[in-house]
Amino acid sequence: MPKFADIKGFAFDLDGVITDTARLHGQAWRQTADTVGTPWTAELAESLKGISRLESLEMILAAGGHANDYTEREKEALADEKNEAYQELIKTLTPADILPGMGDFIRDAVAQGYRLSIASASKNAPAILNNLGLTKYFIGIVDPATLSAGKPDPEIFVRAAAVLDLPNEQIIGLEDSAAGIKSINAAGQTSLGIAAAGVLPEAKLHFTATSQVTLATIATKMNQ
Ligand code: BG6
Ligand code: MG
Repeated sequence: MPKFADIKGFAFDLDGVITDTARLHGQAWRQTADTVGTPWTAELAESLKGISRLESLEMILAAGGHANDYTEREKEALADEKNEAYQELIKTLTPADILPGMGDFIRDAVAQGYRLSIASASKNAPAILNNLGLTKYFIGIVDPATLSAGKPDPEIFVRAAAVLDLPNEQIIGLEDSAAGIKSINAAGQTSLGIAAAGVLPEAKLHFTATSQVTLATIATKMNQ
């Protein structure tokens, strides 16, 4: 693992790292699961984190044994319906919905000269960042519509490095999903996972809450 002094930038996942939209995605997908007749479980919800909209739908269908029950057009309609419900939920987001400590961490990092980018699978990321009042802190957002492969493929974090104009070794990627941690590790960046103890065992740096993530606590973990 690099030393903290080597780090020059951060690539952030958005949903579940900066704001608790993982909960809102879950709420919207649960309606889809009910519609198609797939039982909604905590494991299914966890497995969808970091996964693109259409792939998530495929996983929900497969979990209920409905993988072959819908045409492509019907699947697109189900995904659109989910997105409409989700967009209603994210309309209500304000700066008060930034997860504990994340606003301070983002502002501190920028004040200390670190470069920040967003590596989120969500096509709604620009709208969410805007509602949270955080757009100005990020050099850029990787557009997930332009990717050939989603998380756990490294592409999205490699693209975030290009946005930051930094080599992978100088970047910490922040994630709440197993797919995202795999993506960061495969990109050759330092993975920082935020999840309950025992979840995200592949994360190089582990935190159990966003409130614990500060430049000082990261430096301590990397240099010990
Ligand atoms: C990720 C979420 O950030 O974005 C996933 O963790 C979600 O749950 C994915 O499916 C795509 O989001 P959207 O907003 O484009 O449907
Ligand atoms: Mg996430």
